[in-house]
Amino acid sequence: MELSETLQSNASYRSFTDQPVSDEELRGILDLARFAPSGGNRQPWEVIIVKDPNRRNSLEHLYQLAWREYMAHVELGLVPFAPTDHGRWSGPAIDLEEARRRPAPSSFADNLATVPALLVVCVRLDQLAVLDNGLERQSIVGGGSIYPFCHNIMLAARSRGLGGVMTTVICRQESAVRELLAIPNGVAVAALLALGYPDKVVTRLKRHDPSTFTHLDTFTQRPPWEEVNSAAPSALK
Ligand SMILES: Cc1cc2nc3c(=O)[nH]c(=O)nc-3n(C[C@H](O)[C@H](O)[C@H](O)COP(=O)(O)O)c2cc1C
Repeated sequence: MELSETLQSNASYRSFTDQPVSDEELRGILDLARFAPSGGNRQPWEVIIVKDPNRRNSLEHLYQLAWREYMAHVELGLVPFAPTDHGRWSGPAIDLEEARRRPAPSSFADNLATVPALLVVCVRLDQLAVLDNGLERQSIVGGGSIYPFCHNIMLAARSRGLGGVMTTVICRQESAVRELLAIPNGVAVAALLALGYPDKVVTRLKRHDPSTFTHLDTFTQRPPWEEVNSAAPSALK
């Protein structure tokens, strides 16, 4: 598949055919994904392929709890866990315990255990160069050494005809996930990736035009997009 087609059809797929994802396919995907960049090329990733039905059921339950917290924010029009206090998070905006008790039905969350392939991507924290540590705002740089790898998995999967979704709500339940999957201290959960063969491929993603988020020289100026746009590769249009 052409890169532009891979990018343009790399939607979040949460519903799959019954076709299983073979070990060989997963190996091929990880073999491509490993070319991701990371700070100092430390490659801090670890991937757990979860096949065991009991562990899958437990992951589904933990995901549902986290999904409830997420949806309780969304229902109130809040960005879940956003660092809104001058770029910092100042504690829960809702009663999280109450949120976890309230069911939030979701065909994806409620069927997570049956997704063709489930990958938990972990990150070795002592291998992260976090250059914005100590700034007076939410740290963001560390994620840059693990999410390109996660995204590479999604792109590699799409290029081979699969699809899926990168999810992070499970991080809310990190301590339970660590216990469930015997993840050692100092290793964090970065994402849960669901993969399979999509039952319907999307070809038009809803994304803002580059002119809405690009600035020229300063935040207050916009570039001459008509010119740039016409020369842009089709994936950017
Ligand atoms: C950092 C990150 C975290 C995400 N976490 C979740 C998640 O926990 N659950 C989920 O269903 N989707 C999750 N998504 C998928 C987004 O919801 C999705 O990318 C977005 O809605 C765009 O959807 P589309 O690609 O189908 O257009 C996440 C995506 C990113 C990049």
